[in-house]
Amino acid sequence: MANIVLGVSAGIAIYKSADLASKLVQRGDSVRTLMTPNALKFMTPLTFRAITRQEVYTDIFSDGANATVGTNATVGTNATVGTNATVGTNATVGTNATVGTGATVGTGAVGGGPSGRIEHVSLSDWGDVLLIAPATADLLGKLAAGLGDNIVTATALAFSKPVVVAPAMNDQMWAHPIVQSNVQRLKEVVGYRFVDPESGHLACGSFGPGRLAETEQILRALDEVLTSPAKTRSS
Ligand SMILES: Cc1cc2nc3c(=O)[nH]c(=O)nc-3n(C[C@H](O)[C@H](O)[C@H](O)COP(=O)(O)O)c2cc1C
Repeated sequence: MANIVLGVSAGIAIYKSADLASKLVQRGDSVRTLMTPNALKFMTPLTFRAITRQEVYTDIFSDGANATVGTNATVGTNATVGTNATVGTNATVGTNATVGTGATVGTGAVGGGPSGRIEHVSLSDWGDVLLIAPATADLLGKLAAGLGDNIVTATALAFSKPVVVAPAMNDQMWAHPIVQSNVQRLKEVVGYRFVDPESGHLACGSFGPGRLAETEQILRALDEVLTSPAKTRSS
């Protein structure tokens, strides 16, 4: 049983990461999902929250407004999060705290989530492994450049334990020299473990390498890094 931080980005294969999350939960792993802002155009956090029964993180600057927190909590405009608290325009989050223009977040909290935690740092402490699936060409570029402009990339930067990346994209994108060079850089500089895409029919209609690897293959790679002794970025 491991703590898995699952990062998902805006690829058409994102629906497969829901299956991946389900398989991980079924085998006893604990899964917290991070979604890039663009991934929200493909799927809602609700799917991952329902499958993993854990918070879903979508915003590096979260004040709780986008988090899915607590039993019976709902999310959205005028929705509630936590006990007796509401989130939305001019709404409140946390006990006696308000969020909105000129408002404060949490009792004595400064930034971070509802508890005042800085989510990308606490997630990197919590997780045994960061699994990014699907990883878009865009996300690979950001990771290789060391950018941390969203919850997935910022958590990856803060993450010193193993990182497994399963890219998925159009075959021409996957073959692009810049994408390949980013993959090489991530392997060589930070030791990321890649589960390369498979060849097959792609959503764009073409046939070639770019399809997200099968769930079983991704699970095997996860198990390999979790049981490998040399598994931290610093080791
Ligand atoms: C319908 C559709 C499907 C897409 N599928 C992919 C994909 O499978 N892989 C990919 O790298 N980009 C894909 N893209 C492009 C990404 O969504 C785009 O580069 C986006 O900026 C990535 O955002 P993110 O990396 O921050 O999640 C797709 C775009 C659209 C509109």
